[in-house]
Amino acid sequence: MFGAENVYSLLKRAGMFLKSKGLSEPESDAEVLLSFVLQTKRSKLPLMRSQKLTDIQVSQYEKYILRRSKREPVAYITELAGFMDFEFKANKNVLIPRPETEILVETALKLAKKENKNSVLDLCTGSGCIAVSLAKLGKFKDITASDVSGSALEIAKENARINNVLDISFVKSDVFDGISGKIFDIIVSNPPYVSHEEYNALESELKYEPEIALMAAECGLFFYKKIAGKAGKYLKDNGFILIELNAYKAGEIKQIFSTGGYKNIEIIKDYAGLPRILKAENRC
Ligand SMILES: C[S@@+](CC[C@H](N)C(=O)[O-])C[C@H]1O[C@@H](n2cnc3c(N)ncnc32)[C@H](O)[C@@H]1O
Repeated sequence: MFGAENVYSLLKRAGMFLKSKGLSEPESDAEVLLSFVLQTKRSKLPLMRSQKLTDIQVSQYEKYILRRSKREPVAYITELAGFMDFEFKANKNVLIPRPETEILVETALKLAKKENKNSVLDLCTGSGCIAVSLAKLGKFKDITASDVSGSALEIAKENARINNVLDISFVKSDVFDGISGKIFDIIVSNPPYVSHEEYNALESELKYEPEIALMAAECGLFFYKKIAGKAGKYLKDNGFILIELNAYKAGEIKQIFSTGGYKNIEIIKDYAGLPRILKAENRC
């Protein structure tokens, strides 16, 4: 499609092609994918404008651009995602870590420091981005990460290895069912929270992500209800729960935790001013 070209002309053509397919950030996508093919930093591309690519590199790039033109997320093409300044492996078995979820990690780190908390459970860990970031940045003595998906747990374990974190306990568990005999200072979770209705209206990029990571029954509230109902048993007396919110259902979710008897419920907003994290203290 692009022929043997230099970095500059290739980027220009790829950007125009992606733009013609209606992508919202064609130049940025073209640059990220080319820097991946060339195994270089994106910031170095302007210095490489006249560099010629081999036929193999051009054909690899062409395949990636075609995949992107069909709305496959860049992170699944490169199998890499950035989160909290760390690099994570991502594939179709895990949700791509989102910037909003960094607020959950930052809140947990602040809370653990202030309240001297040192054990944490990351429920619905997916890629392991939350648990691994907490292990890298916090001083936790005990980190457990669980997910119902065995293939997600494999990626989470790989992400722990890639980031040199060797002390997370990974558990296959349907919500709390496999977490036995342990109680924690903090439970963090970014559970599936998209309703069936919302799922059908999602943009096509999101349809590449695992349905199990996104969709939740009971109008998207299933996991909030389940977690509010059971978390108390897995938390120490003055333990905390931090859970990412479906921003459009924050009021209902707050009500679920309040009815469940949790104390000092706070809602923390994200950078767009949307309610993003619920923080609550155990009911004891
Ligand atoms: C929204 S993703 C969050 C992934 C990761 N923690 C993050 O923030 O990027 C939700 C995760 O919940 C997991 N999950 C879905 N149903 C579950 C269940 N019944 N019990 C435990 N985990 C579940 C999915 O496999 C998925 O990894």
